[in-house]
Amino acid sequence: MKTNSWEGFSKLSLQERKRRLVDEGILSKEDCDDLQSGALDSTFADHLVENVIGVYSLPFSVAPHFLIDGKSYIVPLVTEESSVVAALSFAAKLLAHNGGFQTQILGNMSIGQIQFPIVEDQQSFEEKILKEKHNLIEKSHSFVPNLTARGGGVRDILIRFLKRPDQKKMAVLHVLCDTKDAMGANLINQICEHLKPELERLTQEKVGICILSNLVDTKLVEATCDLAIEASLASSIEEAHLFAQLDPYRAVTHNKGIMNGIDALLVATGNDFRAVEAGAHAYASLKGQYTALTSWTYKNDKLHGKLILPIACGTVGGMTKAHPLAKLSLKILNIKTSQELTRICAAVGLAQNFSALRALCQEGIAQGHMKLHASNLALAAGATNENEIQCVRDKLQYSPLKTVEQAKKILDQFRKVKRHVVGCHCEICETKHGNLEFMRAEGSNSINS
Ligand code: MEV
Repeated sequence: MKTNSWEGFSKLSLQERKRRLVDEGILSKEDCDDLQSGALDSTFADHLVENVIGVYSLPFSVAPHFLIDGKSYIVPLVTEESSVVAALSFAAKLLAHNGGFQTQILGNMSIGQIQFPIVEDQQSFEEKILKEKHNLIEKSHSFVPNLTARGGGVRDILIRFLKRPDQKKMAVLHVLCDTKDAMGANLINQICEHLKPELERLTQEKVGICILSNLVDTKLVEATCDLAIEASLASSIEEAHLFAQLDPYRAVTHNKGIMNGIDALLVATGNDFRAVEAGAHAYASLKGQYTALTSWTYKNDKLHGKLILPIACGTVGGMTKAHPLAKLSLKILNIKTSQELTRICAAVGLAQNFSALRALCQEGIAQGHMKLHASNLALAAGATNENEIQCVRDKLQYSPLKTVEQAKKILDQFRKVKRHVVGCHCEICETKHGNLEFMRAEGSNSINS
């Protein structure tokens, strides 16, 4: 699949986009039916969580053009936020012409925590655990034979001591586990709980809680990219990055932008985006101050971008194979392993951050954001057909104030005059005038209220 073969994809209608994916052999006709219906019926939903009263839908999009480690990807995204998908597609396309993204898996261990609230004799506790570590690992493996058969399992048990306010010591065991292609939260929790009685017998200390940690700094992924852009834009992006590096108030918004894309991909693939969000933000503050997850540096006429963050996601287990659209997302991605999904997440995060910084440093975020958001405003104002949406959207472009109230005013006016406003594609405009400049003049005379 060539990256430039997706040129013009965004200009197609919804039906044409699906047809295009069918023509490329990415979707089947049945997949299109699933997309049409939203695929999750309420009976199925009723088995997933409690007190179900219906099914809540969100837009399902794709961002083509991604070139990651030399392979082309179409990235499925579920998000309600305007401009996330457009920004990603824009950055992915630009980056594809610059060699795409390079990624590296920097670790693959999930962490299970076993807490001992108070340990009186630190040294003897440590000795007992270290002496029995091998047997504890064996014991956990006999409990999860399917995981070991898939090549996964517990790789190590580490001991940490934390100083309590009463000056006593709390001990925490970190059970490091390779869960292979599963996100593995349930697996890890069960392994830790399974070890609890044996650990209490061995140490003669009481176990508190057993639970996985979402701060998986043992499961890091890195994405990098190099981009030939004008020096002035590159140095503005460097400055914007420095701002986020120095100031937590800015860093959190900077990182939120990164997570816009990653979350949308995680939701599309049925993954636990809250776990990844929590891990990413905790990792961003691991050195004592909350800071930017990406870095941007300009050297030798190239802007170099780098993102490192922990990602715990799966391609098996949980919702990934249960929700028909999550299954479809994995099919669109054409991936087999969770590590490949992890790499794509990192590239998507870096692409999203580049797009946000570029817009912030150039036209500002409001313009692009509001252009797409204008359709939402039109709908919120009560527009009921394509013509009304188009009219409100186009007219809002020239309004300094882009609010629902303003959209309502434009819509009322349009309905009253029942004819052209700026950029309107209604029949009258198309046939009688067909000239945007004329409509702009006409619109600005009659609608600027
Ligand atoms: C909005 O959802 C995301 C941004 O605020 C990110 C950023 O400021 O870098 C545009």
